[in-house]
Amino acid sequence: MKLGVLGSGDVGKVLASGFLKHGHEVMVGSRIASKLGDWAKKNPGGKTGSFSDAAKFGEVVVLAVKGTVAGDALRAAGAANLQGKTVIDAANPIADAPPVNGVLRFFTSLDESLMERLQRDYPGAKFVKAFNSVGNACMVNPQFRGGKPTMFICGNDDGAKKTVAQLLDQFGWETADMGKAEAARAIEPLCMLWCIPGFLRNDWVHAFKLLS
Ligand SMILES: NC(=O)c1ccc[n+]([C@@H]2O[C@H](COP(=O)([O-])OP(=O)(O)OC[C@H]3O[C@@H](n4cnc5c(N)ncnc54)[C@H](OP(=O)(O)O)[C@@H]3O)[C@@H](O)[C@H]2O)c1
Repeated sequence: MKLGVLGSGDVGKVLASGFLKHGHEVMVGSRIASKLGDWAKKNPGGKTGSFSDAAKFGEVVVLAVKGTVAGDALRAAGAANLQGKTVIDAANPIADAPPVNGVLRFFTSLDESLMERLQRDYPGAKFVKAFNSVGNACMVNPQFRGGKPTMFICGNDDGAKKTVAQLLDQFGWETADMGKAEAARAIEPLCMLWCIPGFLRNDWVHAFKLLS
């Protein structure tokens, strides 16, 4: 599969390296090409470019930018380059304000998630929420004593979710499909919960598992 990753931060780089490791073709996008120099050296099979180059390249696009600027990054990527494509949305709507007793603050409400806003603004793209509620160090082939962790996903397009579930399976996750885009109202705040042990006890190595 050809993946276009929008984001030069830890998430973009870790996911891009993971896709390469699993035999996919990858282009990572940034506004500033020099930010990806080290990644390109360590990942000679990967390509780098602008947000627009990466979105055009990808059959599947990954959104891995700061939540407050997700709209700006998608605008730079270009609606035409996202048309009809699965967009894996790892972004969290974290506000530019400090956490309170380890609890992050969001700029969204429980009645409207970031992903719903993006889906509304880019109706031609098929957004799937994934990878938002685990740290980047545990995103690719995580090893936990408790077994395979669960990635909660949601989105309006069943085919897009199937594609994402296949990629998650390669990365060593089990997938729990929580339904349509509105479920991002519940999945995005899992990031707040995931981060609390980190902020309070510097414990950043854990993941969620759904038991039945
Ligand atoms: N860090 C984690 O472990 C983790 C885990 C799960 C989910 N997430 C979520 O994943 C997303 C990425 O996180 P991250 O830690 O990798 O990096 P980040 O620092 O949150 O975001 C970096 C990216 O944001 C882009 N950006 C910043 N300002 C911009 C602007 N004005 N316009 C367009 N793009 C802009 C940067 O673009 P340039 O490349 O052009 O500078 C860069 O690619 C976030 O939404 C975060 O909440 C993070």
